[in-house]
Amino acid sequence: MSDETLGPADEELVRVASLQRERAYAPYSRYKVGAAIRTKRNKIHSGANVENASYGLTMCAERSAVFGAVGAGDRELEAIAVVVAGDEPPSPCGACRQVLYEHGPAMRVILATTGGRRRVTTLRELLPDAFGPARLGAGS
Ligand code: THU
Repeated sequence: MSDETLGPADEELVRVASLQRERAYAPYSRYKVGAAIRTKRNKIHSGANVENASYGLTMCAERSAVFGAVGAGDRELEAIAVVVAGDEPPSPCGACRQVLYEHGPAMRVILATTGGRRRVTTLRELLPDAFGPARLGAGS
């Protein structure tokens, strides 16, 4: 992992994800996560993790953001920023990687902390040999 300097569009995505992080509902883990997605139409959709007293029903920030984008009819995802507090940048869970892959297999992934750390990677790197719509002959 290396800390990187971002361009203005990616830094803006991190800024929106950081703001969204403040709306996270994480009274159980106390691990607040914010995510912001930029689409090919150059719109930003954001989400935060929402926990539940029935722990397994918790929704991650990344999937909240994807479902917001797709639900708004904006399905081609170009980049995602995920922000947490603390020393270590986040790492999206397996379920979120799979859901992100469906709508943005070539997506750029920016993993950041509120303190200024930034790691840039891609979804292909995070989820090699992925199962996706092409294997079903579907996708539209
Ligand atoms: N979480 C996310 O929202 N995104 C991640 O990348 C990792 C995990 C949430 C789920 C749960 O609310 C809390 O973080 C602890 O797992």
